[in-house]
Amino acid sequence: MKNKVLVTGGAGYIGSHTCIALHEAGYEMVVYDNLSNSSVEAINRVSALIDRPIDFIQGDIRDKKRLNQVFDEHKFFGVIHFAGLKAVGESVAKPLMYYDNNVSGSITLLEVMMAHQVDNLIFSSSATVYGDPKTLPIDETAPRSCTNPYGQSKLMIEHMLEDLATAYPSLNLISLRYFNPVGAHPSGQIGEDPNDIPNNLMPYISQVAVGKLERLSIFGDDYPTVDGTGVRDFIHVTDLAQGHVAALNYLQQHASSNSSSDAAGSVGFLPINLGTGKGTSVLDLVAAFTKVSKQPIPYQFAARRAGDIASCYASADKAKELLGWEAKLSITEMCQDTWRWQSKNPNGYA
Ligand code: NAD
Ligand code: UFG
Repeated sequence: MKNKVLVTGGAGYIGSHTCIALHEAGYEMVVYDNLSNSSVEAINRVSALIDRPIDFIQGDIRDKKRLNQVFDEHKFFGVIHFAGLKAVGESVAKPLMYYDNNVSGSITLLEVMMAHQVDNLIFSSSATVYGDPKTLPIDETAPRSCTNPYGQSKLMIEHMLEDLATAYPSLNLISLRYFNPVGAHPSGQIGEDPNDIPNNLMPYISQVAVGKLERLSIFGDDYPTVDGTGVRDFIHVTDLAQGHVAALNYLQQHASSNSSSDAAGSVGFLPINLGTGKGTSVLDLVAAFTKVSKQPIPYQFAARRAGDIASCYASADKAKELLGWEAKLSITEMCQDTWRWQSKNPNGYA
């Protein structure tokens, strides 16, 4: 079926929001997730929001037998591949776990796709593949390098996809490089639900605001930025979800797929940034969140975090040009939706 996609990792933060956007755009989906970093409650809530059951399979992307069964049962136009582990610090402590899960898992998925002549893939890459950028904004031609196993796993998968596209010209492989996803669905029903203490800034801020954590440590006040704190390109997760729909629409129009007869041509390997193109400092985000939530957010300055860079923001031109997509939502809306989710669900999905 030309409008049916497999969504690996679809129970997770970005995947769950993307399922809603896919449904609204008229796509059918099967979600495949081992729930290693998510909850079936996210699936239940997505079902309630779209008012229909989700076709959900609990499974691991490294389980070739199970994946083959799924591909035998369903005729997919393509795969949106979110499944992966994403904690940078954990990847430094447990590198093999990251290479096995992310790289071996992707190899298995690609083998099964190819065995079933499914040629279309949208892969969750990351701005982390740009390392410490030499120039800003970062466009897709910037050199790539990574300093931690998580980033390496994304870079290895990108290299693998490039090699595959060279070897098999019928493949259409889009690598979406996300900048810093934040925010939640405007319903407040689904959002980011980190295990333990959050590593990332926005969930940390929101847990301080709701009273679960005492104070934020701001890692570094002496970066060469507007106020000395780190600058990032925060992007609302619902904008990001729409970026996946735009990429899928692009594949529908441009991909030559064995599973579609009215194909137009081959895409090969296509990396595309998903960001807003704007940088926001840590202090600016804290100020915006304080204003929206009307809660105090105590903070202290601490030493720089190892591996952090000063500034990182996207050139979003390629996404606009090729996909006709651009981010629409502001920092205020990102904070409002995060706060709605956090205050309605102080313990996440638990
Ligand atoms: P998430 O952890 O919420 O979602 C990932 C999902 O994949 C989870 O539901 C998890 O259970 C599942 N999963 C992990 N390993 C699996 C396996 N072996 N088999 C089946 N399912 C598995 O993370 P997210 O924030 O939604 O990120 C989605 C993707 O985007 C990840 O690949 C991540 O690396 C990438 N990404 C995320 C960010 C970010 O800041 N959130 C930034 C750049 C890239
Ligand atoms: N920060 C703090 N205090 C915290 C957490 C973060 O000051 O408690 C600062 C960081 O030092 C950085 C900024 O907030 O300056 C953003 O940090 P995040 O951890 O939220 O995000 P990163 O940019 O470090 O990394 C995130 C994901 C990566 C992904 C990358 C893509 O964690 O997986 O975005 O650009 F690759």
